[in-house]
Amino acid sequence: MPDGAEDVTILVPGKLHSHAVSRIGERFRLMAVERSDPALLTDEMKRSVVGVAASGAISSAFMDALPKLQIVASFGVGYDAVDAAHAGRKGIVVTNTPDVLTEEVADTALGLLINTVRELPKAENYLREGRWRREGAYPLTCATLRGRSVGIFGMGRIGRAIARRVEAFGLPVSYHNRRKVEDAPYAYHQTLVGLAEAVDTLISVAPGGAATEKAVNAEVLRALGPNGVFINVGRGSTVDEAALAAALRDGTILAAGLDVFADEPNVPDSLLSLGNACLLPHVASASVHTRQAMADLVVDNLVAWFTRGAPLTPVAETAHLKEP
Ligand code: DGY
Repeated sequence: MPDGAEDVTILVPGKLHSHAVSRIGERFRLMAVERSDPALLTDEMKRSVVGVAASGAISSAFMDALPKLQIVASFGVGYDAVDAAHAGRKGIVVTNTPDVLTEEVADTALGLLINTVRELPKAENYLREGRWRREGAYPLTCATLRGRSVGIFGMGRIGRAIARRVEAFGLPVSYHNRRKVEDAPYAYHQTLVGLAEAVDTLISVAPGGAATEKAVNAEVLRALGPNGVFINVGRGSTVDEAALAAALRDGTILAAGLDVFADEPNVPDSLLSLGNACLLPHVASASVHTRQAMADLVVDNLVAWFTRGAPLTPVAETAHLKEP
């Protein structure tokens, strides 16, 4: 860091990975506040904060309350909780943590798919409860991956990593995305309903936000059909959870595997009570290895901005912004 870096004040609202916090403390002047609420900002923060590092929501009001703010370094690839469009208009850079979590999230997606279809968590519980000894073999699973056809909703970096794995399992892949991805060697469907009609296994890795709000709705689930399996490692907001619970209950689809929910960590009872829903507490990228790499990228973005005026991984809405 050049001289004077200790005068660069970075604010951490709420909880952030401890490795990121300690690196920020070594390189910058670190301030912390309980949560990203403008009412909690002190005059000193308003006077001096030029960067925010956060895992969670950063609203337009919070940005507006920090007049010297230059950059919001967000932990995670999804940044739907950060008002990046507002930041872009105000000349504030937003960065996220792509690439370093791609393979981990794709691994988890395939694990969740197999757990959902082959009921491995339920089979393990059966063993632990002593039922194998008492009652004999676990019942044959009515679902299998064999013969399935997989549709991916969201053909970005993670979608492609999932597609590669699905191909290795010997299953055909097709996808729906805002736009056709020219170099993706998979069948493209212009609509999500069209994709759901064409496959029996739908894996969503779609980002959150207004454009995808409740995109996986009753119509999509009906199109997926009674042998249908739905997997979500994207964002819970992309699913109409009431419609999903109803579809799982009445056999409109066969099963679902969910790592993300609309109101985390609150998972609706209507999903918790279902035997054909395999539920995880948003762990797709949650290994020590990958979370440390994400924490490093948060801090590396701050260092790159304040030393060279060029963030490493700016989000699309602020990619036009250069030097402070
Ligand atoms: C992300 O990075 O967006 C994942 O959901 C992990 O938080």
